[in-house]
Amino acid sequence: MDIREFCRRLPKVELHAHLNGSIDNDTLYKLMDLYKAKHEELPLEASDKSIYAIKQGETRTLAQCFDVFRAIHALTGSEEAISIVAKDVVQGFANDGVRYLELRTTPKDTPTSAEYVRTVIDALKTAQDKHQGAIVVRLILSIDRRGSVEKALETVRIAAQNKPFVVGVDFSGDPTHKDARDFQSAWDLARQKDLKLAIHFAEIKNTEESLYIVNELKADRIGHGCFMQDGVEDAVLKAQIPLEICMSSNVMGQSVKDYDDHHFHDLYEKDYPCAISTDDMGVFSTTLSHEYAMAARKLDIPQPRIWDLSYRTIDFIFAEVEVKDQLREIWNSEKVLLANSAKTG
Ligand code: IMP
Ligand code: ZN
Repeated sequence: MDIREFCRRLPKVELHAHLNGSIDNDTLYKLMDLYKAKHEELPLEASDKSIYAIKQGETRTLAQCFDVFRAIHALTGSEEAISIVAKDVVQGFANDGVRYLELRTTPKDTPTSAEYVRTVIDALKTAQDKHQGAIVVRLILSIDRRGSVEKALETVRIAAQNKPFVVGVDFSGDPTHKDARDFQSAWDLARQKDLKLAIHFAEIKNTEESLYIVNELKADRIGHGCFMQDGVEDAVLKAQIPLEICMSSNVMGQSVKDYDDHHFHDLYEKDYPCAISTDDMGVFSTTLSHEYAMAARKLDIPQPRIWDLSYRTIDFIFAEVEVKDQLREIWNSEKVLLANSAKTG
């Protein structure tokens, strides 16, 4: 079987996906229509359609990628829009064979952070129910590094109030702003509330912050890891913190020169715990199947090892142990089916 088809049929776990970065073009057009029905004209930030969905093969600077989020956010300022996004995004991942999905989103004032989170959770649960067990969904709340410590603390409190559906807290946003060390009180509160920490890490060169995230904060998962010089890589290798790998995002956002240069090559060789992920499948015109197939091709990984990579990601999920056991059962029962269909073609 062709590797693309194999990766499409492979049961998959998605651990690093931003809700508003995962909107496909169809949903984007729905949001534009919804906005226009209420306001006639599109908002200025969203009126230049050419900035959406960066095509495979194109690249943008990190700043340009953040312009795309500004445009999307200008269209998602109503509860109706948020519900559409959450439902469509789950549908998109389910269509791609994702069986466990941890989405993350930054609470917005729509009309308050707590209500935004409630709207997202209601829509995600409705979408999950519609798929009758075919996909399990959990939520992580993001702390935007450009925001205040007060806002971060509020986000942690809302996360704690919405356990167990909310499983943890993320730290994301423009990496050129502020530092994870500025948010110590939010991390302390998250630990106290028994929330997991998934932290964007080494997206740009920031050695002190990176060492803090690994050695002091001891994050439960880290995302990206593009700049691991000056002792950071040694610290990571020692800590063995699962790393979310987002190849297209890194290449298209110009953090990594090309796929052949990606640090996943080295980490795979070292058998480092990695979770192949999409980051923003709408913005980077990708799917999780595509990310797996790309990794298989670029690193020359045979199909049984691709299977192992997918199976291993179950170890890194934040949901309860019962969910892990349930997923392992699904993977084991689908393994034989996939192996048989791989033989027959
Ligand atoms: P949202 O939190 O659901 O609105 O998803 C979009 C947000 O995710 C963006 O505004 C950023 O704060 C964050 N985000 C998405 N991709 C990246 C990334 O590659 N690095 C850092 N933050 C990101
Ligand atoms: Zn991300």
